[in-house]
Amino acid sequence: MSRDLVYPVITIDGPTASGKGTVAHRVAKNLGFHYLDSGALYRLTALSAIEQGIALTDEAAVADLARALPCRFVKGHVYLGQIDVTDAVRAEAIGVAASKIAVLPAVRKALVELQVSFRQAPGLVADGRDMGTVIFPDAVQKIFLTASVAARANRRYKQLIEKGFPANMEDLVKDLSERDARDSARTEAPLKPAPGAYILDTSEITAEEAVYQILVLYAMASK
Ligand code: C5P
Repeated sequence: MSRDLVYPVITIDGPTASGKGTVAHRVAKNLGFHYLDSGALYRLTALSAIEQGIALTDEAAVADLARALPCRFVKGHVYLGQIDVTDAVRAEAIGVAASKIAVLPAVRKALVELQVSFRQAPGLVADGRDMGTVIFPDAVQKIFLTASVAARANRRYKQLIEKGFPANMEDLVKDLSERDARDSARTEAPLKPAPGAYILDTSEITAEEAVYQILVLYAMASK
């Protein structure tokens, strides 16, 4: 059996600002698993393209960047080369740019190997849009985390303000809705629940409750 088939994976997919990052990170910590924030890879690719003056529509050039992305994740910090870009990648403009390059099939393909390489002992929690449908179709437990646009805009607003970024509620609702539409409508790996995924709506529950539910589901699935 190949190494990739041995280590268990929990996938947590869902729309932007559904709480995936916080929840996935805590589930991973609780189980002692590795954590893959796949959105960060799309964000890093977009940031790198912008810094190098490459058009976000230049599929071949952006895919080349993605294939050789000099990224490192160290103790909650994200590095592009030697530069700590932890805060820079979280900017709303970079999220929007990420969703633009994410529609390009060559870019998605260029990031597959890197994502799969995160599957290491003793297991992995992977969050994104296509973790359960495309990257880890054999995941032990697949979750589709969702929440209303209002709840998600509210959360994103708080996150941005906390990080010292400017934020405007009206713009955020517009950005989130446009990003949802782009992520769901694209032909390549569109945002949709994987077959068999457990749909968890977090509009009315806390991150702790979501984490607890996922841990219970995982415990049942791995029996
Ligand atoms: O999850 P996050 O908001 O950081 O992702 C940024 C963008 O990257 C998303 O809007 C989506 O377009 C893209 N993405 C993707 N597939 C993933 C993760 C993120 O297309 N697995």
